[in-house]
Amino acid sequence: MKILVAGGSGFLGRACIARLLADGHEIVAASRRASARPIAGTVALDIDAGQPIDPADVGGCTAIVNLVGIARARPGNDFAHAHVAAARELVALGQTLGVKRFVHVGVIDTSTAHSPYHTTKRAADELIRASALPWTILRPSAVFGPGDQLLTNLVTQVRTAALFPVPRTRGPLALLDVDDVSDAIAAVLHRDVAIGRCYDLVGPARLDVREMVHAVAGALELPTWAPAVPDVLLGAVAWVGEAILERPPLARSQLVMLQRGLAGDGAQATAELGLASRPFSPTRIAALAQQIPPPRMSLRLFPNPAHRRWFTDVRVSSAAVPWALAVMVAMLLLPALVEGLWIRMLAIELVAAPLAVALISMPWGRLAQLRPTMLATGLVGAAFLYIGARAAVAAGQPFAITAQLALVYEAMTAIPSAYAMILLPIVVVAEDITFRVAITTLLARRTGPVAASLMSGAAFAIAHLTAGPPILVLAALVLGTIWSALFIRTRSLVAVVTMHLGFDALVLWGPRLG
Ligand SMILES: NC(=O)c1ccc[n+]([C@@H]2O[C@H](COP(=O)([O-])OP(=O)(O)OC[C@H]3O[C@@H](n4cnc5c(N)ncnc54)[C@H](OP(=O)(O)O)[C@@H]3O)[C@@H](O)[C@H]2O)c1
Repeated sequence: MKILVAGGSGFLGRACIARLLADGHEIVAASRRASARPIAGTVALDIDAGQPIDPADVGGCTAIVNLVGIARARPGNDFAHAHVAAARELVALGQTLGVKRFVHVGVIDTSTAHSPYHTTKRAADELIRASALPWTILRPSAVFGPGDQLLTNLVTQVRTAALFPVPRTRGPLALLDVDDVSDAIAAVLHRDVAIGRCYDLVGPARLDVREMVHAVAGALELPTWAPAVPDVLLGAVAWVGEAILERPPLARSQLVMLQRGLAGDGAQATAELGLASRPFSPTRIAALAQQIPPPRMSLRLFPNPAHRRWFTDVRVSSAAVPWALAVMVAMLLLPALVEGLWIRMLAIELVAAPLAVALISMPWGRLAQLRPTMLATGLVGAAFLYIGARAAVAAGQPFAITAQLALVYEAMTAIPSAYAMILLPIVVVAEDITFRVAITTLLARRTGPVAASLMSGAAFAIAHLTAGPPILVLAALVLGTIWSALFIRTRSLVAVVTMHLGFDALVLWGPRLG
């Protein structure tokens, strides 16, 4: 059969053409984008630019498959054009050619939705039903597959952050594999029973968007929090995204579908077209995710499962936990025995750090590799921390923190600057080996990365309880958490030491914090 596939350059179009070619059909694809032309025999079709298909270009076609559609209106291509005008154009062409099959792909459950997407889809369905062509309407639910928007956006967002806001109103989506849509189109072309019929195409699973996020997060082994946020907020995000982005992660029409759900009754398609829908299984999700390029930047502390395994696979001596507890107890007791801050820090850290290296089997050489990106990360981080600390001190003025800061400065400047310049790097490296690398790793092996960072920061703060005023304990909590998180993310001692050392140096020798 020679078949015209309109919308052949799209997601469904590419899958459908591959399937029809494999079945031995001859294909003419109609598309606007020359660069996306999937096969040699492509003809130009741009409904909006008033570029109809010349019947002479598609002579001999005995079937038309209409996959033209848009998810959001753009200047020059609104819903009425892409859905209604395209369908009208193709119906007229079908009549001219005298086609034996006209397969139109609409969308499931347009009966009550009032978005421009749905009303124009409904109008197109009516136009086709009213035609004298041997038509079949296929109404898929949300479709996933290679090169789709749905799974690509889900996977990219899950890889980018552990937070995925979902709308408060959520309907079930009967997620459908693109291969099932191709099967349906292929079946319709040779089954007479399909003429004049309208089929819902649904997958076996009915998941709302939050369940979908969890299914994807589970398949990718990337735990994700999907809190429900007010619908109006996501509506605003979709509106702004459409206004400023070329490919917004969520269009308003798609938000309506997530809220209403996309489910229907696939029984007739199963019975008459012989469809057996493929599941939205973890294996299929993981396989499709492999084809999706990683995001440019991930805010996750464990950006992928391999990163997590790097921590869980670390070999740790059974003496490591007692060692960590002993370090904290020593830090708590020593201020009562030894007065000078510097001598205390040196005494503890120079014993604790070599023991950490002995007890925890890490690639210590790689952690200490001097990489320019890690140095830059540390330096930029130190500058941000210092600016943040100045702002925090300014905000803390009403709580009389100046006197507490003076005590900290007094302890830190108790030795001549020249000595401090030699001792500071030694203390910082030893402290970061002890707390940021060793203790953080012990925690990250057992908990998630955020909990490990917080607990490591808390351990650092507890160890400082007897070392100085409350402001010192608070600083240990906040900075300890940040530096631990930085280590988990970068697995670089250099980044952490640079940020820590840079910050301490700015505090000691830069303009005083308060
Ligand atoms: N994907 C889903 O989950 C899903 C679910 C239910 C229903 N559907 C429906 O299935 C159809 C195909 O969806 P899809 O996901 O494959 O969409 P897609 O990837 O965006 O592809 C849409 C196709 O329509 C063409 N097109 C758009 N505006 C046009 C215009 N003014 N003139 C001529 N061609 C135009 C595009 O051509 P260019 O390449 O030249 O832009 C492209 O080939 C749509 O009707 C859609 O509503 C899709």
